[in-house]
Amino acid sequence: MPTYAQRALDLFPAGSNGEYRIPADLLPVIERGSGAYVWDTDGRKHLDMTMAWGAALVGHGRPRVLEAAARQAQQGANFAAITRVLVELAERIRDVSPCIEKIRFVASGTEATMLCLRVARAATGRPKVMKYEGAYHGQHEVGVTSLVGDRLPDFPEPDDAGVGGDWVNRDVLVAPYNDIETTRRIVSEHGDTLAAVIVEPFHRCLSPAPGFLEGLREITARHGVVLVFDEVVTGFRFAPGGAQEYYGVTPDLVAYGKALGGGFPIGAYGGCADVMEAVSEHRLPGPNYAWSASTGGGNPVTAAAANATLDVLNEDGVYERLHAHGRRLRESMRGVLDDAGEAAQVLGDGPLAQVAFTDAPVTDHRSWKASDGARGRAVMLALLRDGVFLNPMGTKLYLSIAHEVAEIDAFADHFATALRRTAAAGAEEG
Ligand SMILES: Cc1ncc(COP(=O)(O)O)c(C=O)c1O
Repeated sequence: MPTYAQRALDLFPAGSNGEYRIPADLLPVIERGSGAYVWDTDGRKHLDMTMAWGAALVGHGRPRVLEAAARQAQQGANFAAITRVLVELAERIRDVSPCIEKIRFVASGTEATMLCLRVARAATGRPKVMKYEGAYHGQHEVGVTSLVGDRLPDFPEPDDAGVGGDWVNRDVLVAPYNDIETTRRIVSEHGDTLAAVIVEPFHRCLSPAPGFLEGLREITARHGVVLVFDEVVTGFRFAPGGAQEYYGVTPDLVAYGKALGGGFPIGAYGGCADVMEAVSEHRLPGPNYAWSASTGGGNPVTAAAANATLDVLNEDGVYERLHAHGRRLRESMRGVLDDAGEAAQVLGDGPLAQVAFTDAPVTDHRSWKASDGARGRAVMLALLRDGVFLNPMGTKLYLSIAHEVAEIDAFADHFATALRRTAAAGAEEG
């Protein structure tokens, strides 16, 4: 009988359900998870440092979340309608999210950011959107434009042969993150036709430079451009009110996903009432209407899990611990790199970390691309080989509330081993 990994390789392109690029001999097929660990179908235990790409912020199998979901599932898994638990969830999000006056639920971060952009275009009647180089907003056209390519042109370039280039070339603008002058120039030049600027306020694993988000808020407001915060990563992770609370800047629209669902698939978007009015069916089929409907979005099992997730995150000291643990992780990685004499930057904030092998500061996509990606990948693969589950495509490390000091220190040991092994062996292929 072939192994699960062999069966997966047989059926799934690259043996993955998307974005892992794990060499065939290393492919783990996950059987179950608990807390900060996952077990594969060979019975091997891995320290999980990706936590469902950040969706499992409360840890795997958190009883309170599972019980809430199971209780709700017994009463019906989906009605494709507003439910009691969804109203409660919407109110709780409104109470912590500075910009939310109106909200809709979907089933993924991709849908949430896509709809923010469509709503902005419908509400303003303008065609263009601007994003930042290297920003990932999900698997729609804008999300995958100017994302990973090695060429760094000043124009939008889809990293996906399926994206219709004409629309993207005409209506998507790109700017370097943290560059307020270029942002101001583009927004001023295209003000009349620019519907929205979408930004990950904490871009990939990079913090905003002082004044960058404030400058962006000011210039978009001046030109009537809808400012969209993609808080799929930062939402409910940096603070109850996400990056809006953490950085003190309020956008017009916000997109959520990942952590909110406690591991269950979720997305939500919302913001000021007048912009959100674009999705009101009373407008149908008016010229300023944007279609927003999702069979799985806002389903009651996920909503119940999300309410329980917010209960868990609201317990005393949770955010303080997440930040303290993130600091410990980054400091220990710094220490390991210094001991090994490696030229590298440790990036991150909150419970997130990432390493870039370069001696130059990393502040945007171009400075990230200038780092030694092959070295980074070799280290990630060595970690994977050593029993640390992560995404070797260079994605950030995500801690959860289930990661204690013991897990962070264990990771530092694995990291030291991975640096040693890869330094001795040279860059691995894969
Ligand atoms: C910042 C950001 N936005 C949007 C998305 C897309 O979310 P999803 O994978 O749920 O569609 C991601 C996913 O990693 C993300 O990191």
